[in-house]
Amino acid sequence: MALQDYQTALVTGASSGIGAATVRLLAARGLSVHALARRRDRLAELEDAGDVTIHAVDIRDRDALYETLGKIEVDILVNSAGVGSRFDAFHELDPDNIDATLETNIFGTIHAARAVSPGMVARGRGHIVNIGSIFGLHAIGAAVYGASKGAVHVLSQDLRHDLKGTGIRVTEVSPGRAATEIFATMTDDPAAQSAMAEGFEIITAQDVAEAVIWALDQPWRVNISLIELTSTEQVPGGVGIHPVAGRSSHD
Ligand SMILES: NC(=O)c1ccc[n+]([C@@H]2O[C@H](COP(=O)([O-])OP(=O)(O)OC[C@H]3O[C@@H](n4cnc5c(N)ncnc54)[C@H](OP(=O)(O)O)[C@@H]3O)[C@@H](O)[C@H]2O)c1
Repeated sequence: MALQDYQTALVTGASSGIGAATVRLLAARGLSVHALARRRDRLAELEDAGDVTIHAVDIRDRDALYETLGKIEVDILVNSAGVGSRFDAFHELDPDNIDATLETNIFGTIHAARAVSPGMVARGRGHIVNIGSIFGLHAIGAAVYGASKGAVHVLSQDLRHDLKGTGIRVTEVSPGRAATEIFATMTDDPAAQSAMAEGFEIITAQDVAEAVIWALDQPWRVNISLIELTSTEQVPGGVGIHPVAGRSSHD
């Protein structure tokens, strides 16, 4: 089942970054797209992309999420809503920020999948794409964010087992550092936010969205289970200095 065989999609985290880029690509391919995030004004900017319906919902509000998703039928779910955890040292992290990170990145992802999957099972087709992270695949050094994305990794791989035979495909797309607004969720310091995009050419939201579309566009016999993509100059889990060449690496 390639992309042209799907008709409707839901993208969470659609108001910026990877989610917004994915909405635009799906709409350009003729799909009817539901775009979900908290910021209604930013979602409204997507309405010129094609057949796009916006839903201003906090994914941590479980009742609102199930109520919203219970009213729509989607062939594709792209779970992109997520926040980065703060730059602070682990022992200084605000407990509220820990909860917000886990509630958004884990609970939001699981509940969105749970909410749309009954319809997919009933129709015998569907595709769930979870945006993970290299932090979920490698120990890089952001324990709470890494734990949240590690959960997304195991969730995605286990969903392949749990949904086998239902007609639902599951894909995890785990990017390295990409130029989006997520840096603002990690630190309030504009200089530190800018520094995240400096030093080497980082990938873009569009790069990641193109990978999502590629996975969705495969023929039915193919399930792309995991895509890890990074900047050419970013090596996940790298220590500061390359032990042989003496070059710095970037995590
Ligand atoms: N950029 C990177 O370097 C990078 C690398 C690896 C993985 N990722 C992952 O990629 C995904 C997308 O992030 P991004 O880089 O595109 O960042 P972004 O531009 O900050 O987008 C994050 C999106 O999530 C939404 N969101 C956050 N909290 C939400 C909530 N409680 N309810 C509903 N929506 C919520 C935001 O919208 P509102 O604020 O309007 O709600 C926004 O649309 C995330 O899961 C992130 O962990 C990013």
